[in-house]
Amino acid sequence: MLPKDPNGCPFLILAPMEGVGDRCFRKAMASIGGFDEAVRDFLRVPSNAHIKSLGSEYHSDELGSIPLAAQLMGSDPYLMAEMAKEMENRGAHRIDLNCGCPSNKVTGRGAGSSLLKEPDFLHEIAASMVKAVSIPVTIKMRSGYEDTSLFKENLLAAQESGVRFITLHPRTKLDGYGPPARWDLIAEAKSILKIPLVGNGDILNVKHALDMLRITGCDALMIGRGSVINPFIFHQIRSHFSKQPYQPKWEDLVRYLEVYLADVEVVISEKVKVNKLKQLMSFLFKGNEALLEKRSIILTSQYSTPASFMEFALPLLRQGWEGYRF
Ligand SMILES: Cc1cc2nc3c(=O)[nH]c(=O)nc-3n(C[C@H](O)[C@H](O)[C@H](O)COP(=O)(O)O)c2cc1C
Repeated sequence: MLPKDPNGCPFLILAPMEGVGDRCFRKAMASIGGFDEAVRDFLRVPSNAHIKSLGSEYHSDELGSIPLAAQLMGSDPYLMAEMAKEMENRGAHRIDLNCGCPSNKVTGRGAGSSLLKEPDFLHEIAASMVKAVSIPVTIKMRSGYEDTSLFKENLLAAQESGVRFITLHPRTKLDGYGPPARWDLIAEAKSILKIPLVGNGDILNVKHALDMLRITGCDALMIGRGSVINPFIFHQIRSHFSKQPYQPKWEDLVRYLEVYLADVEVVISEKVKVNKLKQLMSFLFKGNEALLEKRSIILTSQYSTPASFMEFALPLLRQGWEGYRF
């Protein structure tokens, strides 16, 4: 699990990001590459879940040769086990249990980060999934619900359930995305766990990635928002280890946007497509100061078709390309 590349670069994972990191984004990212695996945003498993139709939302071959893990969010041990089987049947190479998203009432007892309130229950759900399938089950968790008082208990409950590794986003549910990710907790988790640990949270550039590895001793890295701001970040981290220079090309960024657009659902309206592009571009416009200043122009622009929006936005993006914060 989580092998390094031949140059010693740790296993790199594209984070699940519901809304932002949907299929279009994942495919666009796959056109650039550099990461070993992606995790799909969560499939919510409500108490009345129809396993087969829910399962049809997951496509293991979505990214070609790059594996796509399935992530499940729910709180019914039986249904979660059934859903895990369905994911295995649909070709998933691993299934991740979501213990991080804000709880929601649809799932009854409380799923996602609510599981962190009851380590025994977290253990029960994870163990039911582990037992149901022959592929690895993993857990992605925050550091706690309201506070970190059950941090160690949750880690141990997860480990004892038989999951293969844990990904830690070291903020509590209450933190949201406000305070900086507490990398000291990743180091603490590493000292507690026997199974591998993936570090996640606030990696925006190569230095952050190297710092996280050094400070925490984690086994692999997961990157979310940093990849939306800079889609080349995985190649750049890899290049540090290979010592082969990597220079992102403008043409690659244009292709990335084209792949994104090509995959936007055909059924949705032109306006929704423009809004999705705006959302993606608004991250890219965080790439440097000059672009950041123009971000509001992008967000408030009024274009009714993706083509007219791109015609307007691409030259603005290109102006800031030279100073892009890699
Ligand atoms: C818009 C958005 C949606 C997210 N959706 C999910 C999700 O579906 N499942 C999950 O486990 N984490 C989800 N996360 C959390 C991220 O995977 C990640 O843990 C978090 O953003 C911290 O990593 P980063 O600083 O590299 O972005 C989401 C984050 C964002 C910003």
